[in-house]
Amino acid sequence: MGGRLQGKVAVITGAASGIGRGTAELFVREGAKVIGGDLQDDKGARMTEELGDAFHYTRCDVTDEAAVKAIVDLAVSRWGRIDILFNNAGTGGAMETAETVTAEGFDAVMHLHIRAALFGIKHAVPHMKAAGGGSIISTASVAGLQNGFGPILYSIAKAGIIQMTKLAAAQLGPFSIRVNAICPGLIATPIFATSIGMARQVADTTVEAISKAGGGSQPIPRSGLPADIAEAALYLAGDGSTFVNGHALVVDGGITVGPTGLAQMSTFAPIMQAMGIDLSALDALQQGVAP
Ligand SMILES: NC(=O)c1ccc[n+]([C@@H]2O[C@H](COP(=O)([O-])OP(=O)(O)OC[C@H]3O[C@@H](n4cnc5c(N)ncnc54)[C@H](O)[C@@H]3O)[C@@H](O)[C@H]2O)c1
Repeated sequence: MGGRLQGKVAVITGAASGIGRGTAELFVREGAKVIGGDLQDDKGARMTEELGDAFHYTRCDVTDEAAVKAIVDLAVSRWGRIDILFNNAGTGGAMETAETVTAEGFDAVMHLHIRAALFGIKHAVPHMKAAGGGSIISTASVAGLQNGFGPILYSIAKAGIIQMTKLAAAQLGPFSIRVNAICPGLIATPIFATSIGMARQVADTTVEAISKAGGGSQPIPRSGLPADIAEAALYLAGDGSTFVNGHALVVDGGITVGPTGLAQMSTFAPIMQAMGIDLSALDALQQGVAP
């Protein structure tokens, strides 16, 4: 039986870890041929061994326009087409604030996230137009939607990806090329550790602990996993979403809905205390326990 991406060819950047890796694995299981690009050549080579002939790793620094063009062209020269581009490579770092921001820091973050994704679109579009359509997906973030999920530069970049998605969707829709974004919430990957300067090898060892600990961060009581984002990417990549264009799909277990439980209580605590209300009784009520 054919998978949901049978016969399709995809390019995924940032494919050697986390969300990109999870998506490459799912796309291959669903019948796609996948070119994965990244900077982590050792992991890419291992993925090629594990995933077999339907996966091909190539080094691709997405900040290098020539490398972005090359990975797109490789899909066409190797497998005759590119149906899906997943602009996913990224890092969390750049902790500058509005007061400490530098030109170098600003340019690096915008380059890695926005410019790289836009140039991915630029180079995929001629092939997709010639073939009569395609699906382009970029990884944005809940940090691009609201405050509190990332440093300022990262958040600006992810907001830029969401807006870029809408503008490109309007331009490319007439050619049946759909452009969408995914806004992950907190997903258990090494990105949190690398963001605070941990070496990649150490960062990789943090994922299991994060996936066990992340259940309390959002209304859904488990951690977000790369597979959750991969499923969203599969939907946007496949033929079940051919009328979905310019959309930023939030996959966050409800974290952007707002504070829950005790966090919500703490927001109202000063007001309740000012009214002389016993907070423990209120908390018990909220948990459904009779005071
Ligand atoms: N994990 C989360 O909670 C989360 C939430 C929202 C958005 N995101 C976004 O998801 C995407 C994937 O991140 P992840 O969480 O899987 O992290 P990850 O560190 O597991 O994977 C990111 C991959 O991108 C690669 N990469 C970095 N710079 C690159 C470059 N210049 N060229 C090519 N590859 C490069 C890294 O080597 C790594 O393999 C990123 O864009 C990130 O901003 C992650």
